[in-house]
Amino acid sequence: LTRLQQHPTRRPPEGPVVCVVLDGVGIGRGDFGDAVAQARTPTLDRLRGLPSFTSLLAHGTAVGMPSDADMGNSEVGHNALGAGRIVDQGAKLVSGAIASGAIFGPAWRRCVDAVKASGEPLHFVGLLSDGNVHSHIDHLLALVERAAIEGVKKVRVHVLLDGRDVPARSALPFIDRLEAALARLSQDGRDYRIASGGGRMVVTMDRYEADWRIVERGWDAHVRGLGRRFSSAREAVETYYKETGLDDQNLPAFVIADAVGPVGPIRDGAAVILFNFRGDRALELTRAFEEEHFDKFARGPKLQVEFAGMTQYDGDLQLPTHFLVAPPAISGTMGELLANAGVTQLAISETHKFGHVTYFWNGNRSEPFDPKREKYVEVPSDGPPLEHRPWMRAADITDRLIAEIDAYKPKFVRVNYANGDMIGHTGDLGATILAVEAVDLCLGRVIEAVRARKGITVVTADHGNADQMFDLRPDGAYQVRTSHSLNRVPLAIVDPRAPGGGPVLAPPPSAGLSNVASTCLELLGFLPPESYRASLLAR
Ligand code: 3PG
Ligand code: CO
Repeated sequence: LTRLQQHPTRRPPEGPVVCVVLDGVGIGRGDFGDAVAQARTPTLDRLRGLPSFTSLLAHGTAVGMPSDADMGNSEVGHNALGAGRIVDQGAKLVSGAIASGAIFGPAWRRCVDAVKASGEPLHFVGLLSDGNVHSHIDHLLALVERAAIEGVKKVRVHVLLDGRDVPARSALPFIDRLEAALARLSQDGRDYRIASGGGRMVVTMDRYEADWRIVERGWDAHVRGLGRRFSSAREAVETYYKETGLDDQNLPAFVIADAVGPVGPIRDGAAVILFNFRGDRALELTRAFEEEHFDKFARGPKLQVEFAGMTQYDGDLQLPTHFLVAPPAISGTMGELLANAGVTQLAISETHKFGHVTYFWNGNRSEPFDPKREKYVEVPSDGPPLEHRPWMRAADITDRLIAEIDAYKPKFVRVNYANGDMIGHTGDLGATILAVEAVDLCLGRVIEAVRARKGITVVTADHGNADQMFDLRPDGAYQVRTSHSLNRVPLAIVDPRAPGGGPVLAPPPSAGLSNVASTCLELLGFLPPESYRASLLAR
Protein backbone atom coordinates (compact mmCIF):
# COMPACT_ATOMS: atom_id res chain seq x y z
CA LEU A 1 0.00 0.00 0.00
CA THR A 2 1.17 3.51 -0.85
CA ARG A 3 2.53 5.50 2.09
CA LEU A 4 2.24 9.24 1.96
CA GLN A 5 5.56 11.11 1.79
CA GLN A 6 6.20 14.61 3.08
CA HIS A 7 6.19 17.19 0.32
CA PRO A 8 9.70 18.63 -0.19
CA THR A 9 8.56 22.25 -0.08
CA ARG A 10 4.92 22.60 0.91
CA ARG A 11 3.94 22.94 4.55
CA PRO A 12 0.43 22.35 5.83
CA PRO A 13 -1.54 25.26 7.23
CA GLU A 14 -1.92 25.66 10.99
CA GLY A 15 -5.65 25.01 10.67
CA PRO A 16 -7.54 22.39 8.63
CA VAL A 17 -7.86 21.91 4.90
CA VAL A 18 -11.62 21.90 4.28
CA CYS A 19 -12.98 20.56 0.99
CA VAL A 20 -16.51 21.82 0.35
CA VAL A 21 -18.59 19.99 -2.25
CA LEU A 22 -21.48 22.10 -3.52
CA ASP A 23 -23.55 19.19 -4.79
CA GLY A 24 -25.11 19.92 -8.17
CA VAL A 25 -23.72 23.45 -8.53
CA GLY A 26 -22.12 23.59 -11.99
CA ILE A 27 -21.15 26.39 -14.32
CA GLY A 28 -24.06 27.04 -16.66
CA ARG A 29 -24.74 29.39 -19.54
CA GLY A 30 -25.87 32.25 -17.37
CA ASP A 31 -29.34 32.22 -18.94
CA PHE A 32 -32.79 32.22 -17.33
CA GLY A 33 -32.61 28.48 -16.68
CA ASP A 34 -29.32 28.74 -14.79
CA ALA A 35 -30.38 28.89 -11.14
CA VAL A 36 -26.78 29.42 -10.04
CA ALA A 37 -26.46 32.53 -12.19
CA GLN A 38 -29.96 33.69 -11.18
CA ALA A 39 -29.21 33.38 -7.48
CA ARG A 40 -27.65 36.14 -5.41
CA THR A 41 -24.27 34.58 -4.56
CA PRO A 42 -21.81 37.08 -3.10
CA THR A 43 -19.49 34.30 -1.90
CA LEU A 44 -19.30 32.46 -5.22
CA ASP A 45 -18.86 35.82 -6.97
CA ARG A 46 -15.85 36.56 -4.78
CA LEU A 47 -14.35 33.14 -5.49
CA ARG A 48 -14.57 33.75 -9.22
CA GLY A 49 -12.12 36.64 -8.79
CA LEU A 50 -9.40 34.54 -7.10
CA PRO A 51 -6.19 33.50 -8.91
CA SER A 52 -7.08 29.99 -7.74
CA PHE A 53 -10.42 29.87 -9.54
CA THR A 54 -10.83 27.40 -12.40
CA SER A 55 -13.33 24.93 -13.76
CA LEU A 56 -13.18 21.13 -13.78
CA LEU A 57 -14.66 18.39 -15.93
CA ALA A 58 -17.24 16.41 -13.96
CA HIS A 59 -18.95 14.23 -16.55
CA GLY A 60 -18.28 11.54 -19.14
CA THR A 61 -14.92 9.83 -19.50
CA ALA A 62 -13.35 12.30 -17.04
CA VAL A 63 -15.21 10.45 -14.26
CA GLY A 64 -15.12 6.91 -15.70
CA MET A 65 -18.44 6.95 -17.57
CA PRO A 66 -18.67 5.15 -20.93
CA SER A 67 -18.84 8.31 -23.06
CA ASP A 68 -18.78 12.07 -22.89
CA ALA A 69 -22.51 12.10 -23.59
CA ASP A 70 -23.01 10.69 -20.07
CA MET A 71 -23.68 13.27 -17.40
CA GLY A 72 -21.86 13.08 -14.12
CA ASN A 73 -23.47 11.98 -10.88
CA SER A 74 -22.68 11.94 -7.21
CA GLU A 75 -21.33 8.41 -7.14
CA VAL A 76 -18.78 8.81 -9.91
CA GLY A 77 -18.04 12.38 -8.83
CA HIS A 78 -17.29 11.56 -5.20
CA ASN A 79 -15.41 8.41 -6.23
CA ALA A 80 -13.15 10.58 -8.42
CA LEU A 81 -12.76 13.22 -5.70
CA GLY A 82 -11.82 10.68 -3.04
CA ALA A 83 -9.74 8.33 -5.18
CA GLY A 84 -7.73 10.90 -7.10
CA ARG A 85 -7.97 8.71 -10.16
CA ILE A 86 -10.42 7.92 -12.93
CA VAL A 87 -11.90 4.47 -12.38
CA ASP A 88 -14.12 2.63 -14.83
CA GLN A 89 -17.57 2.93 -13.33
CA GLY A 90 -20.53 0.54 -13.06
CA ALA A 91 -22.16 1.81 -16.23
CA LYS A 92 -19.06 0.96 -18.21
CA LEU A 93 -18.23 -2.28 -16.41
CA VAL A 94 -21.72 -3.71 -16.91
CA SER A 95 -21.83 -2.90 -20.64
CA GLY A 96 -18.40 -4.45 -21.00
CA ALA A 97 -19.49 -7.57 -19.12
CA ILE A 98 -22.53 -7.92 -21.36
CA ALA A 99 -20.41 -7.55 -24.49
CA SER A 100 -17.92 -10.16 -23.30
CA GLY A 101 -20.52 -12.46 -21.77
CA ALA A 102 -18.75 -12.29 -18.40
CA ILE A 103 -21.99 -11.11 -16.81
CA PHE A 104 -23.42 -14.60 -17.26
CA GLY A 105 -21.11 -16.09 -14.65
CA PRO A 106 -21.71 -18.03 -11.42
CA ALA A 107 -24.27 -15.62 -9.89
CA TRP A 108 -26.36 -15.69 -13.04
CA ARG A 109 -26.14 -19.48 -13.13
CA ARG A 110 -27.36 -19.76 -9.55
CA CYS A 111 -30.43 -17.68 -10.38
CA VAL A 112 -31.26 -19.54 -13.59
CA ASP A 113 -30.71 -22.95 -12.01
CA ALA A 114 -32.87 -22.01 -9.01
CA VAL A 115 -35.92 -21.05 -11.06
CA LYS A 116 -35.53 -24.00 -13.40
CA ALA A 117 -35.62 -26.26 -10.38
CA SER A 118 -38.52 -24.53 -8.61
CA GLY A 119 -40.70 -23.38 -11.50
CA GLU A 120 -40.96 -19.96 -9.84
CA PRO A 121 -40.24 -16.88 -11.96
CA LEU A 122 -36.93 -15.11 -12.44
CA HIS A 123 -37.63 -11.60 -11.10
CA PHE A 124 -35.86 -8.42 -12.11
CA VAL A 125 -36.15 -5.29 -9.98
CA GLY A 126 -34.65 -1.92 -10.91
CA LEU A 127 -34.81 1.55 -12.35
CA LEU A 128 -36.35 1.55 -15.83
CA SER A 129 -34.63 4.23 -17.91
CA ASP A 130 -31.53 4.95 -19.93
CA GLY A 131 -30.22 7.42 -17.33
CA ASN A 132 -27.06 5.31 -16.85
CA VAL A 133 -26.74 6.65 -13.30
CA HIS A 134 -28.25 3.73 -11.40
CA SER A 135 -29.14 1.45 -14.31
CA HIS A 136 -29.70 1.21 -18.05
CA ILE A 137 -32.69 -0.37 -19.79
CA ASP A 138 -30.34 -2.00 -22.30
CA HIS A 139 -28.76 -4.00 -19.48
CA LEU A 140 -32.18 -5.26 -18.38
CA LEU A 141 -33.14 -6.18 -21.94
CA ALA A 142 -29.89 -8.11 -22.42
CA LEU A 143 -30.56 -10.13 -19.27
CA VAL A 144 -34.15 -10.86 -20.22
CA GLU A 145 -33.11 -12.00 -23.73
CA ARG A 146 -30.54 -14.33 -22.24
CA ALA A 147 -33.09 -15.77 -19.83
CA ALA A 148 -35.20 -16.77 -22.83
CA ILE A 149 -32.22 -18.37 -24.57
CA GLU A 150 -31.51 -20.36 -21.42
CA GLY A 151 -35.05 -21.67 -21.28
CA VAL A 152 -36.35 -19.68 -18.31
CA LYS A 153 -40.14 -20.07 -18.50
CA LYS A 154 -41.31 -17.20 -16.36
CA VAL A 155 -39.86 -13.72 -15.99
CA ARG A 156 -41.37 -10.91 -13.93
CA VAL A 157 -40.05 -7.35 -14.00
CA HIS A 158 -40.64 -4.84 -11.20
CA VAL A 159 -40.10 -1.40 -12.70
CA LEU A 160 -39.10 1.70 -10.79
CA LEU A 161 -39.96 4.84 -12.71
CA ASP A 162 -37.21 7.41 -13.11
CA GLY A 163 -37.91 11.00 -14.21
CA ARG A 164 -34.87 12.15 -12.22
CA ASP A 165 -31.94 11.09 -14.41
CA VAL A 166 -34.12 11.42 -17.53
CA PRO A 167 -37.03 13.76 -18.46
CA ALA A 168 -39.65 14.10 -15.73
CA ARG A 169 -42.37 12.24 -17.65
CA SER A 170 -40.56 9.71 -19.76
CA ALA A 171 -41.76 6.47 -18.17
CA LEU A 172 -44.16 5.44 -20.93
CA PRO A 173 -41.69 5.07 -23.81
CA PHE A 174 -39.45 2.95 -21.56
CA ILE A 175 -42.40 0.82 -20.48
CA ASP A 176 -43.44 0.39 -24.11
CA ARG A 177 -39.94 -0.75 -25.08
CA LEU A 178 -39.86 -3.27 -22.27
CA GLU A 179 -43.39 -4.52 -22.97
CA ALA A 180 -42.52 -5.03 -26.64
CA ALA A 181 -39.50 -7.14 -25.71
CA LEU A 182 -41.46 -9.15 -23.12
CA ALA A 183 -44.30 -9.78 -25.59
CA ARG A 184 -41.86 -10.93 -28.28
CA LEU A 185 -40.22 -13.34 -25.83
CA SER A 186 -43.53 -14.68 -24.48
CA GLN A 187 -43.86 -17.63 -26.87
CA ASP A 188 -42.87 -21.30 -26.91
CA GLY A 189 -44.35 -21.64 -23.44
CA ARG A 190 -42.58 -18.60 -22.01
CA ASP A 191 -44.49 -16.06 -19.95
CA TYR A 192 -42.63 -12.75 -19.44
CA ARG A 193 -44.42 -9.81 -17.81
CA ILE A 194 -44.15 -6.60 -15.80
CA ALA A 195 -45.43 -7.36 -12.30
CA SER A 196 -45.26 -4.18 -10.22
CA GLY A 197 -43.63 -0.79 -9.93
CA GLY A 198 -43.76 2.79 -8.75
CA GLY A 199 -41.86 6.08 -8.67
CA ARG A 200 -38.27 5.76 -7.51
CA MET A 201 -38.53 8.46 -4.82
CA VAL A 202 -41.45 6.83 -3.05
CA VAL A 203 -40.98 3.15 -3.87
CA THR A 204 -37.93 0.97 -3.05
CA MET A 205 -35.02 3.29 -3.88
CA ASP A 206 -34.43 5.02 -0.54
CA ARG A 207 -30.82 5.69 0.42
CA TYR A 208 -28.79 6.12 3.60
CA GLU A 209 -31.84 4.99 5.61
CA ALA A 210 -33.59 8.31 5.12
CA ASP A 211 -36.99 6.58 5.12
CA TRP A 212 -37.43 2.80 5.27
CA ARG A 213 -41.14 3.24 4.50
CA ILE A 214 -40.06 3.75 0.90
CA VAL A 215 -38.53 0.29 0.82
CA GLU A 216 -41.50 -1.20 2.63
CA ARG A 217 -43.83 0.14 -0.07
CA GLY A 218 -41.66 -1.61 -2.62
CA TRP A 219 -41.67 -4.81 -0.59
CA ASP A 220 -45.44 -4.72 -0.45
CA ALA A 221 -45.78 -4.22 -4.20
CA HIS A 222 -42.96 -6.40 -5.55
CA VAL A 223 -42.90 -9.20 -3.00
CA ARG A 224 -46.37 -9.34 -1.51
CA GLY A 225 -48.35 -8.18 -4.54
CA LEU A 226 -50.16 -5.74 -2.28
CA GLY A 227 -51.28 -2.39 -3.64
CA ARG A 228 -53.55 -0.77 -6.15
CA ARG A 229 -54.10 -3.11 -9.07
CA PHE A 230 -53.90 -2.34 -12.76
CA SER A 231 -53.97 -4.48 -15.87
CA SER A 232 -50.75 -2.96 -17.22
CA ALA A 233 -47.93 -0.63 -16.23
CA ARG A 234 -49.03 1.80 -18.92
CA GLU A 235 -52.51 1.92 -17.46
CA ALA A 236 -51.06 2.55 -13.99
CA VAL A 237 -48.87 5.42 -15.15
CA GLU A 238 -51.58 7.06 -17.25
CA THR A 239 -54.07 6.78 -14.40
CA TYR A 240 -51.65 8.26 -11.85
CA TYR A 241 -50.68 11.11 -14.20
CA LYS A 242 -54.34 12.02 -14.48
CA GLU A 243 -55.29 11.55 -10.85
CA THR A 244 -52.25 12.96 -9.08
CA GLY A 245 -50.54 15.33 -11.50
CA LEU A 246 -47.25 13.92 -10.19
CA ASP A 247 -44.22 13.16 -12.35
CA ASP A 248 -42.52 9.79 -12.72
CA GLN A 249 -40.18 9.91 -9.71
CA ASN A 250 -43.10 10.43 -7.29
CA LEU A 251 -45.79 8.13 -8.73
CA PRO A 252 -47.33 5.74 -6.17
CA ALA A 253 -46.75 2.00 -6.18
CA PHE A 254 -48.78 -0.27 -8.45
CA VAL A 255 -49.36 -3.99 -8.83
CA ILE A 256 -50.20 -5.72 -12.10
CA ALA A 257 -53.01 -8.22 -11.71
CA ASP A 258 -55.13 -10.40 -13.98
CA ALA A 259 -58.33 -12.36 -13.31
CA VAL A 260 -56.41 -14.71 -10.99
CA GLY A 261 -54.67 -12.00 -8.96
CA PRO A 262 -51.27 -10.27 -8.85
CA VAL A 263 -49.13 -11.68 -11.68
CA GLY A 264 -45.78 -11.68 -9.92
CA PRO A 265 -45.44 -11.77 -6.15
CA ILE A 266 -41.97 -12.97 -5.11
CA ARG A 267 -42.19 -16.31 -3.32
CA ASP A 268 -39.82 -18.90 -1.89
CA GLY A 269 -37.99 -20.71 -4.65
CA ALA A 270 -37.79 -17.68 -6.92
CA ALA A 271 -34.66 -15.81 -8.00
CA VAL A 272 -34.34 -12.03 -7.84
CA ILE A 273 -31.86 -9.89 -9.74
CA LEU A 274 -31.58 -6.25 -8.73
CA PHE A 275 -30.36 -4.78 -11.99
CA ASN A 276 -29.22 -1.38 -10.64
CA PHE A 277 -25.44 -1.07 -10.70
CA ARG A 278 -25.21 1.89 -8.32
CA GLY A 279 -25.25 1.01 -4.65
CA ASP A 280 -26.62 3.87 -2.57
CA ARG A 281 -30.25 3.29 -3.47
CA ALA A 282 -29.86 -0.48 -3.89
CA LEU A 283 -28.46 -1.36 -0.46
CA GLU A 284 -31.66 -1.21 1.55
CA LEU A 285 -33.64 -3.57 -0.67
CA THR A 286 -30.60 -5.83 -0.74
CA ARG A 287 -30.62 -5.93 3.05
CA ALA A 288 -34.32 -6.75 3.12
CA PHE A 289 -33.62 -9.78 0.94
CA GLU A 290 -30.37 -10.88 2.57
CA GLU A 291 -30.51 -10.18 6.29
CA GLU A 292 -31.51 -13.08 8.48
CA HIS A 293 -32.73 -10.80 11.26
CA PHE A 294 -34.28 -7.70 9.80
CA ASP A 295 -36.19 -5.09 11.79
CA LYS A 296 -36.54 -2.06 9.52
CA PHE A 297 -40.14 -3.00 8.75
CA ALA A 298 -42.32 -6.04 9.33
CA ARG A 299 -40.75 -8.18 6.65
CA GLY A 300 -41.37 -11.52 8.27
CA PRO A 301 -38.92 -14.43 7.94
CA LYS A 302 -36.22 -14.15 5.30
CA LEU A 303 -37.44 -15.28 1.88
CA GLN A 304 -35.89 -18.44 0.50
CA VAL A 305 -34.90 -16.88 -2.81
CA GLU A 306 -31.72 -16.73 -4.82
CA PHE A 307 -30.74 -13.04 -4.77
CA ALA A 308 -28.13 -11.30 -6.90
CA GLY A 309 -27.19 -7.67 -7.40
CA MET A 310 -25.93 -6.27 -10.68
CA THR A 311 -22.74 -5.67 -8.73
CA GLN A 312 -21.54 -5.70 -5.14
CA TYR A 313 -22.85 -2.50 -3.62
CA ASP A 314 -20.72 -2.35 -0.48
CA GLY A 315 -17.24 -3.79 -0.34
CA ASP A 316 -16.95 -3.59 3.46
CA LEU A 317 -20.26 -5.21 4.25
CA GLN A 318 -20.02 -7.55 1.24
CA LEU A 319 -23.54 -6.76 0.15
CA PRO A 320 -24.93 -8.54 -1.68
CA THR A 321 -23.23 -11.91 -1.39
CA HIS A 322 -23.83 -12.77 -5.04
CA PHE A 323 -23.50 -10.31 -7.90
CA LEU A 324 -23.25 -10.42 -11.68
CA VAL A 325 -20.39 -8.00 -12.33
CA ALA A 326 -17.32 -7.26 -10.20
CA PRO A 327 -17.56 -3.71 -8.83
CA PRO A 328 -14.97 -1.05 -9.65
CA ALA A 329 -11.89 -1.81 -7.56
CA ILE A 330 -11.12 1.43 -5.75
CA SER A 331 -8.40 1.19 -3.12
CA GLY A 332 -5.85 3.62 -1.74
CA THR A 333 -8.31 6.52 -1.62
CA MET A 334 -7.09 9.74 -0.05
CA GLY A 335 -9.15 8.94 3.04
CA GLU A 336 -7.30 5.66 3.46
CA LEU A 337 -3.88 7.21 2.85
CA LEU A 338 -4.53 9.99 5.35
CA ALA A 339 -5.82 7.53 7.92
CA ASN A 340 -2.62 5.47 7.52
CA ALA A 341 -0.56 8.63 7.89
CA GLY A 342 -2.31 9.42 11.17
CA VAL A 343 -4.06 12.53 9.87
CA THR A 344 -7.41 13.23 11.55
CA GLN A 345 -10.41 13.56 9.24
CA LEU A 346 -13.97 14.78 9.51
CA ALA A 347 -16.72 13.96 6.98
CA ILE A 348 -20.05 15.72 7.36
CA SER A 349 -23.30 16.16 5.46
CA GLU A 350 -27.02 15.78 5.90
CA THR A 351 -28.71 12.40 5.42
CA HIS A 352 -29.37 12.70 1.67
CA LYS A 353 -25.66 13.07 0.94
CA PHE A 354 -24.10 11.52 4.04
CA GLY A 355 -22.93 8.44 2.18
CA HIS A 356 -21.50 10.60 -0.56
CA VAL A 357 -18.76 12.01 1.71
CA THR A 358 -18.22 8.67 3.45
CA TYR A 359 -19.21 5.66 1.33
CA PHE A 360 -18.61 7.10 -2.15
CA TRP A 361 -15.61 9.20 -1.08
CA ASN A 362 -13.98 6.06 0.31
CA GLY A 363 -14.48 4.00 -2.84
CA ASN A 364 -17.87 2.49 -1.92
CA ARG A 365 -17.14 1.36 1.62
CA SER A 366 -19.19 2.64 4.53
CA GLU A 367 -16.82 2.07 7.41
CA PRO A 368 -14.01 4.43 8.46
CA PHE A 369 -10.49 3.10 7.82
CA ASP A 370 -9.41 4.15 11.30
CA PRO A 371 -12.30 5.09 13.60
CA LYS A 372 -9.86 6.62 16.06
CA ARG A 373 -8.81 9.23 13.55
CA GLU A 374 -11.97 9.70 11.52
CA LYS A 375 -15.28 11.21 12.53
CA TYR A 376 -18.38 10.90 10.34
CA VAL A 377 -21.23 13.26 11.19
CA GLU A 378 -24.74 12.95 9.74
CA VAL A 379 -27.16 15.84 10.18
CA PRO A 380 -30.69 14.40 9.79
CA SER A 381 -32.46 15.66 6.65
CA ASP A 382 -35.98 17.07 6.52
CA GLY A 383 -38.74 14.96 4.98
CA PRO A 384 -40.22 15.68 1.55
CA PRO A 385 -41.25 17.81 -0.24
CA LEU A 386 -37.76 19.28 -0.15
CA GLU A 387 -38.68 22.17 -2.45
CA HIS A 388 -40.72 23.57 0.45
CA ARG A 389 -37.48 23.92 2.42
CA PRO A 390 -34.78 24.63 -0.16
CA TRP A 391 -32.32 25.73 2.52
CA MET A 392 -32.51 22.14 3.76
CA ARG A 393 -30.11 21.62 6.69
CA ALA A 394 -27.29 23.76 5.31
CA ALA A 395 -27.16 26.10 8.31
CA ASP A 396 -27.13 23.20 10.79
CA ILE A 397 -24.37 21.48 8.84
CA THR A 398 -22.38 24.70 8.99
CA ASP A 399 -22.91 25.14 12.74
CA ARG A 400 -21.85 21.59 13.36
CA LEU A 401 -18.89 21.77 10.99
CA ILE A 402 -17.46 24.79 12.78
CA ALA A 403 -18.12 23.26 16.20
CA GLU A 404 -16.39 20.01 15.16
CA ILE A 405 -13.37 21.87 13.78
CA ASP A 406 -12.92 23.40 17.23
CA ALA A 407 -13.73 20.30 19.25
CA TYR A 408 -12.33 17.45 17.17
CA LYS A 409 -9.57 19.46 15.46
CA PRO A 410 -9.51 17.53 12.19
CA LYS A 411 -6.69 18.24 9.76
CA PHE A 412 -8.78 17.35 6.73
CA VAL A 413 -12.51 17.98 6.38
CA ARG A 414 -14.94 17.14 3.61
CA VAL A 415 -18.46 18.49 3.62
CA ASN A 416 -21.28 18.20 1.12
CA TYR A 417 -24.11 20.72 0.75
CA ALA A 418 -26.95 18.86 -0.96
CA ASN A 419 -29.17 21.79 -1.88
CA GLY A 420 -28.20 22.58 -5.48
CA ASP A 421 -28.68 18.95 -6.42
CA MET A 422 -31.66 17.85 -4.34
CA ILE A 423 -33.74 20.92 -5.14
CA GLY A 424 -32.47 20.95 -8.72
CA HIS A 425 -33.92 17.44 -9.13
CA THR A 426 -37.40 18.76 -8.30
CA GLY A 427 -37.33 20.96 -11.40
CA ASP A 428 -38.59 23.93 -9.37
CA LEU A 429 -36.57 26.93 -10.60
CA GLY A 430 -37.61 29.36 -7.87
CA ALA A 431 -36.84 26.92 -5.08
CA THR A 432 -33.52 26.03 -6.69
CA ILE A 433 -32.47 29.68 -6.76
CA LEU A 434 -33.21 29.83 -3.02
CA ALA A 435 -31.29 26.59 -2.54
CA VAL A 436 -28.18 28.04 -4.18
CA GLU A 437 -28.50 31.23 -2.12
CA ALA A 438 -28.70 29.20 1.08
CA VAL A 439 -25.55 27.30 0.13
CA ASP A 440 -23.73 30.50 -0.77
CA LEU A 441 -24.56 32.01 2.62
CA CYS A 442 -23.21 28.93 4.40
CA LEU A 443 -20.15 28.74 2.18
CA GLY A 444 -19.32 32.31 3.21
CA ARG A 445 -19.54 31.26 6.86
CA VAL A 446 -17.31 28.24 6.33
CA ILE A 447 -14.63 30.22 4.49
CA GLU A 448 -14.58 32.85 7.21
CA ALA A 449 -14.44 30.31 10.04
CA VAL A 450 -11.65 28.36 8.35
CA ARG A 451 -9.72 31.56 7.63
CA ALA A 452 -10.01 32.59 11.28
CA ARG A 453 -8.52 29.20 12.25
CA LYS A 454 -5.65 29.58 9.77
CA GLY A 455 -6.92 26.86 7.46
CA ILE A 456 -7.53 26.50 3.73
CA THR A 457 -10.89 26.03 2.02
CA VAL A 458 -11.17 24.15 -1.27
CA VAL A 459 -14.51 24.69 -2.99
CA THR A 460 -15.83 22.48 -5.78
CA ALA A 461 -18.87 20.48 -6.90
CA ASP A 462 -19.46 16.87 -7.92
CA HIS A 463 -21.50 17.63 -11.06
CA GLY A 464 -23.94 20.19 -12.43
CA ASN A 465 -27.69 20.32 -11.86
CA ALA A 466 -28.97 23.69 -10.58
CA ASP A 467 -27.07 25.36 -13.42
CA GLN A 468 -29.48 23.93 -16.02
CA MET A 469 -33.15 23.80 -15.13
CA PHE A 470 -34.53 23.56 -18.70
CA ASP A 471 -33.84 21.62 -21.87
CA LEU A 472 -34.50 23.01 -25.29
CA ARG A 473 -36.55 20.42 -27.15
CA PRO A 474 -36.08 19.84 -30.89
CA ASP A 475 -39.45 21.56 -31.50
CA GLY A 476 -38.12 24.75 -29.88
CA ALA A 477 -40.11 24.42 -26.66
CA TYR A 478 -38.50 24.46 -23.22
CA GLN A 479 -38.93 21.45 -20.99
CA VAL A 480 -38.18 21.30 -17.28
CA ARG A 481 -34.92 19.44 -16.66
CA THR A 482 -34.83 17.44 -13.43
CA SER A 483 -31.58 15.62 -14.17
CA HIS A 484 -27.94 16.64 -13.82
CA SER A 485 -26.21 18.79 -16.42
CA LEU A 486 -23.08 18.02 -18.42
CA ASN A 487 -21.51 21.31 -17.37
CA ARG A 488 -18.13 21.83 -15.79
CA VAL A 489 -17.94 22.64 -12.08
CA PRO A 490 -16.09 25.38 -10.23
CA LEU A 491 -12.90 24.92 -8.28
CA ALA A 492 -11.48 27.60 -6.00
CA ILE A 493 -8.94 27.53 -3.17
CA VAL A 494 -9.05 30.12 -0.44
CA ASP A 495 -5.68 30.40 1.30
CA PRO A 496 -5.17 33.64 3.16
CA ARG A 497 -1.41 33.00 3.26
CA ALA A 498 -1.19 33.28 -0.52
CA PRO A 499 -0.90 36.68 -2.13
CA GLY A 500 -4.20 37.37 -3.87
CA GLY A 501 -6.06 35.13 -1.39
CA GLY A 502 -5.41 31.81 -3.12
CA PRO A 503 -2.58 29.84 -4.73
CA VAL A 504 -1.80 30.08 -8.41
CA LEU A 505 -3.03 27.06 -10.33
CA ALA A 506 -1.68 25.31 -13.39
CA PRO A 507 -4.54 23.00 -14.33
CA PRO A 508 -3.93 20.62 -17.23
CA PRO A 509 -6.44 21.09 -20.11
CA SER A 510 -8.29 17.93 -19.10
CA ALA A 511 -8.47 18.90 -15.41
CA GLY A 512 -11.32 17.17 -13.69
CA LEU A 513 -12.58 16.00 -10.33
CA SER A 514 -9.85 13.37 -10.14
CA ASN A 515 -7.25 16.15 -9.76
CA VAL A 516 -8.74 17.40 -6.49
CA ALA A 517 -7.37 14.68 -4.17
CA SER A 518 -3.74 15.40 -5.11
CA THR A 519 -4.42 19.09 -4.69
CA CYS A 520 -5.75 18.57 -1.16
CA LEU A 521 -2.86 16.24 -0.27
CA GLU A 522 -0.37 18.85 -1.43
CA LEU A 523 -2.12 21.54 0.58
CA LEU A 524 -1.79 19.19 3.57
CA GLY A 525 1.98 19.04 3.00
CA PHE A 526 2.14 15.62 1.31
CA LEU A 527 3.53 14.49 -2.00
CA PRO A 528 0.63 13.07 -4.01
CA PRO A 529 1.12 9.37 -4.90
CA GLU A 530 2.34 8.66 -8.41
CA SER A 531 -0.79 6.73 -9.26
CA TYR A 532 -2.93 9.80 -8.59
CA ARG A 533 -3.82 12.40 -11.20
CA ALA A 534 -1.77 15.57 -10.86
CA SER A 535 -2.36 18.34 -8.38
CA LEU A 536 -3.78 21.58 -9.77
CA LEU A 537 -1.29 23.78 -7.92
CA ALA A 538 1.40 25.53 -9.97
CA ARG A 539 4.91 24.47 -9.01
C1 3PG B 1 -30.38 10.26 -7.33
O1 3PG B 1 -30.07 9.12 -6.96
O2 3PG B 1 -30.95 11.07 -6.59
C2 3PG B 1 -30.09 10.64 -8.76
O3 3PG B 1 -30.26 9.54 -9.60
C3 3PG B 1 -28.67 11.09 -8.93
O4 3PG B 1 -28.35 12.10 -8.03
P1 3PG B 1 -26.94 12.12 -7.31
O5 3PG B 1 -25.96 11.44 -8.21
O6 3PG B 1 -26.65 13.59 -7.20
O7 3PG B 1 -27.07 11.46 -5.99
CO1 CO C 1 -28.27 14.44 -8.11
